[in-house]
Amino acid sequence: MPIKTIILAAGQGTRMRSSRPKVLHEIANKALLQHVYETSQQLNDNAIYIIYGHGGETVKQTLQHFEAVWIEQKQQLGTGHAVQQAIHHVEDADTVLILYGDVPLLKAQTLQTLLQDVSAQSLALLTVKLDDPTGYGRIVRNADNAVVKIVEQKDANASELAIKEGNTGILACNGDQLKQWLARLSNNNAQNEYYLTDIIEMAVADGLSIKTTLASSQDEVLGVNNRNQLAHLERVYQMQQAQSLMEHGVTLRDPARIDVRGEFAELGQDIDVDINVIFEGINRIGSNVRIGANCILKNATIADAVEILPNSLIEDASVGAYSRIGPFARLRPASVIADHAHIGNFVEIKKSTVASGSKINHLSYIGDSEIGSKVNIGAGTITCNYDGVNKFKTIIEDGAFIGSDTQLVAPVTVGRNATIGAGSTITKDTPAEQLTLSRSKQVSVASWQRPSKKES
Ligand code: UD1
Ligand code: CA
Repeated sequence: MPIKTIILAAGQGTRMRSSRPKVLHEIANKALLQHVYETSQQLNDNAIYIIYGHGGETVKQTLQHFEAVWIEQKQQLGTGHAVQQAIHHVEDADTVLILYGDVPLLKAQTLQTLLQDVSAQSLALLTVKLDDPTGYGRIVRNADNAVVKIVEQKDANASELAIKEGNTGILACNGDQLKQWLARLSNNNAQNEYYLTDIIEMAVADGLSIKTTLASSQDEVLGVNNRNQLAHLERVYQMQQAQSLMEHGVTLRDPARIDVRGEFAELGQDIDVDINVIFEGINRIGSNVRIGANCILKNATIADAVEILPNSLIEDASVGAYSRIGPFARLRPASVIADHAHIGNFVEIKKSTVASGSKINHLSYIGDSEIGSKVNIGAGTITCNYDGVNKFKTIIEDGAFIGSDTQLVAPVTVGRNATIGAGSTITKDTPAEQLTLSRSKQVSVASWQRPSKKES
């Protein structure tokens, strides 16, 4: 049966105290609504409808790449009213799944379980056991333990308030039945809202059974209403990422001090990750890689046995096997470091290739360059790749040795096995195998006297 998923995301989110619509707040650099969207996308034969409202134009613009139908709910008259906005898209034969745009950690597996419980004779409801059910609709059961209705907090009597099984708001049912129930909703209740939850009592009256699934944890179905809950769910999400890394064979020195804001397209074994490491975007990491404290890897490709020492940043760059990066190194976009290379402290590399076995160990800037293999670049060497308007290329051929504190004024080529004397400013191509240096001769002035203060 085709599935129509309706994601409710029109609520205001006043308690976030933000100019940003609530569902655009992020967990792991991804909007809350995107988490929900991606989860529902894992279901087969599913069309997605998003109900937006307050600040909704921004939501729609920001997430316009979604394969979904956007439907505006001009006034927020309740969850039942929200679903009504999309009901004309629902065919009788559809199964309708209701999700909330601010409940980001819901698992696709839970939804699969829920969907299996839908039939003409049964409605599927996701419920949760709560330590403190305040604010939630309560699941009211009869003496046979069958669900008879949901009562909202504000409409509940004392015995109903004591119920610890709460409504998550997430449910699935038949399209034709939902249409009939929605048409009969009224707002005759404590909040004068059209409650979606009222369809439960109608379903029971129509002879359906309510099949409940318990959420795997309170956090799985927790909605974000304030920054405290946002921070809490960020930590829950990060702990889940850490668990899955460890299951994959990654050592985390402290699973509570690592952040994954993206995914791993490849992940080897025996990767050792020290504290405060952040992974962003899509990373590929080989086996036996060691990552020191406080490193940030964004869209990085790291081959086997690479060692990344503390406080290094690697963005849109790749590092070959057995290379050593850092501490305090910065590999900027389009840097391609081959195997067995050393990139040391306070070295910045941008849009450059460094071939096998080359070393740039201290205090350098290498931009728009092609560095051959077994090149040694001395401390303080920089490429002057930019004249204020255009960028130019530096080529350093295999085996060259660049003395410390050299400036290479691009465009320039240093020939194979050439040596550049320390302190040189190189403005012309230098021949292979030769020593090139450009510095004024050292002189000593024997007659020179250091100035001294006159005695008064
Ligand atoms: C709702 C449920 C309650 C459940 C709780 C779980 C109803 C009547 N109550 O409570 O049983 O325990 O969720 O959190 O359904 N929304 C709209 N348009 C509206 C109203 C809400 O899109 O007019 C969206 C919100 O953005 C949110 C979701 O629906 O994502 C739930 O709304 P919220 O106000 O948080 O639900 P409650 O009434 O607190
Ligand atoms: Ca709520």
